[in-house]
Amino acid sequence: MPNAPQPILLTGVNGQVGGALLPMLQAFGPVIAPTRAELDLSDPDAIRRFVRKVQPRWIVNPAAYTAVDKAETEQEAAFAINAVAPTVLGEEAAAIGAPVLHFSTDYVFAGDGETPWQETDSTGPLGVYGASKLEGELGLAETGAAHLIFRTSWVYGATGNNFLRTILRLAKEREEMKIVADQYGSPTWSNDLARLVVHTIERTEELAGQENATLREAVKRLAGTYHAAGSGYTTWFEFAKNFVALAQAQAPEQRFARLLPIASAEYPTPAKRPGNSRLNCEKLTTQLGFTMPPWQDSVAQVMAAIQAAA
Ligand SMILES: NC(=O)c1ccc[n+]([C@@H]2O[C@H](COP(=O)([O-])OP(=O)(O)OC[C@H]3O[C@@H](n4cnc5c(N)ncnc54)[C@H](OP(=O)(O)O)[C@@H]3O)[C@@H](O)[C@H]2O)c1
Repeated sequence: MPNAPQPILLTGVNGQVGGALLPMLQAFGPVIAPTRAELDLSDPDAIRRFVRKVQPRWIVNPAAYTAVDKAETEQEAAFAINAVAPTVLGEEAAAIGAPVLHFSTDYVFAGDGETPWQETDSTGPLGVYGASKLEGELGLAETGAAHLIFRTSWVYGATGNNFLRTILRLAKEREEMKIVADQYGSPTWSNDLARLVVHTIERTEELAGQENATLREAVKRLAGTYHAAGSGYTTWFEFAKNFVALAQAQAPEQRFARLLPIASAEYPTPAKRPGNSRLNCEKLTTQLGFTMPPWQDSVAQVMAAIQAAA
């Protein structure tokens, strides 16, 4: 009997990116996607046991501690999931020759200036979340596992916990809403990130086949950190204006809140946010052959999906 194909191990399946990834990855064969109850990523021994048992051919790790403000008081949890877990996954992956696809964030940067950040720019996280994600990047890289890290920003989708869904809900309840208009970045649809992962797996498996190389060797050719966010830049205020206008067009009878632009200083949060979260994504296009769609196109698709599901 032929051997069963080695599975893909996917973490964070109940999250935005993990949820988008599950159906897409299933096209490649078996996917093992443990929930938090089945694999607690804050337990390094549990991670080791799980990977050794599953023997995956890929590890895709969108799981993360993403509560940016709460992280300021829950440092231990944030570092366990964002820094230790990717490192342990990397160690186990290196031992079995499985490549790792990992996600990181614009919050690794200090957020000053107006120039879009490049992968080679100096980091300087402003808070615990960014610091923990940066340590995860460095920890994974040090393990020697073949890996790609996708730094993304402002992730949203038709489901899950995100800015677009929160604002849409509140905009139906309130007369007016104040939205920060001095932080610049790129909204990124979870499905676009999932398609990027599919592209990466297809590209490297094809490369391995063509060159008679191992998957690990093929991934090493493309390995490194890539910025991957929706194309174009905007502010939270303009992003909200865009999708609330689409919602209004879909439901002309519904009253939506008037949106008012404010400065970050008028909306203090426990964790400081970067003013400049723009990510330069040219490397993704030139080296990996994938271009993220314009953020407005993806928002339009998400709003159509929300309307279709209503
Ligand atoms: N969201 C953003 O705006 C944003 C921006 C920049 C970068 N990123 C990065 O993009 C990636 C994907 O983010 P996302 O938006 O998909 O995140 P998300 O929706 O918050 O999902 C995170 C997932 O991680 C899981 N998780 C958290 N702690 C865990 C633990 N101890 N054990 C097992 N699983 C655990 C969660 O499980 P439960 O479902 O059980 O909670 C959830 O499924 C992350 O690396 C994140 O840092 C996100």
